[in-house]
Amino acid sequence: MECPFNHEQPLQYYGDYLAIDQLLALQKPLSLQEGKLLAHDEMLFIVIHQAYELWFKQILHEITACGEVLSKPAADDDGPDMNVVVHRLKRVVEIWKLLNHQVDVLETMTPLDFLEFRELLHGASGFQSRQFREIEASLGLRMENRFRPDYYKHTELGGFNEKDFAEITEFEQKPTILGMVENWLERMPFFEEEFWRDWEDSPNEGAVQPGRSPFWNRYRLLYEQSLSERDDKPDLLGKFDDIFFKTGWGAFRSTALRAALFIMLYRDEPMFRLPFALLNSLIEIDEQLATFRYRHLQMVRRMIGTRVGTGGSSGEQYLQGAVNRNYIYKELAGVITFLIERRHLPALPPRLRQALRFSFTNR
Ligand code: HEM
Repeated sequence: MECPFNHEQPLQYYGDYLAIDQLLALQKPLSLQEGKLLAHDEMLFIVIHQAYELWFKQILHEITACGEVLSKPAADDDGPDMNVVVHRLKRVVEIWKLLNHQVDVLETMTPLDFLEFRELLHGASGFQSRQFREIEASLGLRMENRFRPDYYKHTELGGFNEKDFAEITEFEQKPTILGMVENWLERMPFFEEEFWRDWEDSPNEGAVQPGRSPFWNRYRLLYEQSLSERDDKPDLLGKFDDIFFKTGWGAFRSTALRAALFIMLYRDEPMFRLPFALLNSLIEIDEQLATFRYRHLQMVRRMIGTRVGTGGSSGEQYLQGAVNRNYIYKELAGVITFLIERRHLPALPPRLRQALRFSFTNR
């Protein structure tokens, strides 16, 4: 077979391969007049935004690749497919951590340094970052779950140009990671009756909820017993019933949340390590995004106080609302409320363990 890296390949040069000349020609400060940069920190402002946008591009590249695997009708849940998804989502987490550190660099700019060129930015704002909106949309942040979508989703002054508006709107119609993960959770086979036939973990003492499998009846009882005097038992048990058996929670349906809870509970089983890592990565991405929103808000407070933003929003107030509200996988993280201690977990039925390809040993 011919080696793809043979010496016949044309020689490459670092600067050409990376288009360094073009890249370095892309910083065009508005305060640059007759070859002199009047507002020194405008260069930092541009470079940092461009660095964010480059990393946003990489994040979208990773999310798109994850979407291609997750949208397969039968992704290999315990093999290379899921391994690749988890690996790429972990990379997204690391990129967000890096992006959050960049705020430190931006904060070396003082409010007075910023005021030297702020007026020139009239109408332009991070609000209009098309890639940021595409990241949010592709992860699954729904319009109705956002804080004040009307604020940024328009084409008036401070909003998007027509082209970006159309592209974002098209993006919002595409399948999301949230939707795909939900479908993947729902097709988990753990609860098929054949696995649980003859399952007897221990006699069922508590109230039997009609239409619920013995496992979940048992689990509800164990959960109830795990609550302390200070927990609001009726409230938590009511939530348990609603979330996992009736209404679902937020964007997630109850069958998907049941599977998520099951994975979190039995995460030590070899078969569940990848699914658990996947759920954990999503929760971490949400956490890093929230950290970005919060650090950005703090930085904005220090930079412009409570003045309105260049994009025309109320500034601090809007950003605080987005910090509080724009979570994507909050309910997935919320499943943690319903965990019990490892040592109280019911043993899995032999048939299920076998089906999940464990080498079976009695506990
Ligand atoms: C001096 C630095 C900065 C200031 C004073 C600032 C200020 C603001 C303000 C006031 C808003 C609200 C919208 C508006 O009315 O303009 C906003 C939104 C936003 N900014 Fe910045 N920003 C700064 C740097 C950055 C950087 C470096 C990024 C990185 C890409 C960024 C990304 C964003 C994003 C994505 C939003 C929308 C947030 C959301 O809707 O949740 N900003 N910014």
